Amino acid sequence: MKILQVFSLISTLLATSEVPDLNIPNQIHLHSQDLHISNQIHSLRPLSGSCSHDIPGLSCSSWRLAVETNNIIGWTTVPEECENYVGNYMLGQHYRNDSKVVADVALAHAKSMNLTGDGKDIWVFDVDETTLSNVPYYASNGFGTTPYNSTLFNEWVKEGKAPALPESLKLYKNLLSLGIKVVFLTGRREHTRNSTATNLKEAGYHTWEKLILKNSTYYSEVEYKSNERKQLEENGYRIIGNMGDQWSDLLGTNAGIRTFKLPDPMYYVS
Ligand SMILES: *[C@@H]1O[C@H](CO)[C@@H](O)[C@H](O)[C@H]1NC(C)=O
Ligand SMILES: *[C@@H]1O[C@H](CO)[C@@H](O)[C@H](O)[C@H]1NC(C)=O
Ligand SMILES: *[C@@H]1O[C@H](CO)[C@@H](O)[C@H](O)[C@H]1NC(C)=O
Ligand SMILES: *[C@@H]1O[C@H](CO)[C@@H](O)[C@H](O)[C@H]1NC(C)=O
Ligand SMILES: *[C@@H]1O[C@H](CO)[C@@H](O)[C@H](O)[C@H]1NC(C)=O
Repeated sequence: MKILQVFSLISTLLATSEVPDLNIPNQIHLHSQDLHISNQIHSLRPLSGSCSHDIPGLSCSSWRLAVETNNIIGWTTVPEECENYVGNYMLGQHYRNDSKVVADVALAHAKSMNLTGDGKDIWVFDVDETTLSNVPYYASNGFGTTPYNSTLFNEWVKEGKAPALPESLKLYKNLLSLGIKVVFLTGRREHTRNSTATNLKEAGYHTWEKLILKNSTYYSEVEYKSNERKQLEENGYRIIGNMGDQWSDLLGTNAGIRTFKLPDPMYYVS
């Protein structure tokens, strides 16, 4: 009986956060199964109250991290149980905050460069989920939980109604004022040139050096974009920065002095 009481006293002490070296931040939530991890790196203690039930969000958050770091590749749909998680992320402040960090470091990088002023300093921007946002489309199509439907997506593209991702638009304006020219390099097809150009202008991207669209499905995105960047460099341009939401925007050759990855947990383009 006594042992049980002492045990329960210790449990109570552990459950309240009065043991400083065991303190973990409030926002860290653990699944109950994480209490039984073998080879623990460091002993963890769940928040009081979270011990016996799963807190939604953790597994989707791990999935998102793996996607953003290009550890999970070649996926076609967002796991169904993560639709709400991805929806909340995309529509809420988190996505915007994450995008702002990317745009801020990108601008700091641009400012740190010795720009020549000869008109050959360029910034390569992808379009979808980089300069333009298809969140309105994905919000009515399950946030990536249903397979990509090119017919439906092209209808949306033809409408030319995609809003700007505000953080990218702000970066775009700042880059122009530094004297950097902008090249849009997108996997959108040549036949969408008019609606894409119109959409970019209406969203606030009034000027650009080039708008490069894909005219053949033969090449993978990495090959296509590498090849286009190579041609830009062969024409004397210096790619000060290269920004996209997909790793295929940033991998390959002639990637630019620095690359910047915006978040996108809704789809994967190889
Ligand atoms: C977003 O950033 C604002 C301002 O820094 C902060 O108050 C807010 O908590 C952040 N929200 C998320 C979900 O990151
Ligand atoms: C820019 O020029 C300054 C002065 O010449 C030099 O110290 C600096 O390292 C240069 N920065 C870059 C990124 O080339
Ligand atoms: C795409 O969506 C349209 C309209 O809902 C539908 O008719 C078509 O079958 C879909 N295509 C695929 C490949 O799912
Ligand atoms: C280009 O798109 C705009 C807006 O979508 C439309 O008004 C215009 O007629 C189109 N022009 C051509 C040549 O297709
Ligand atoms: C496709 O685009 C590339 C690069 O802009 C160009 O060199 C090539 O001639 C184009 N091919 C066709 C069939 O238009």
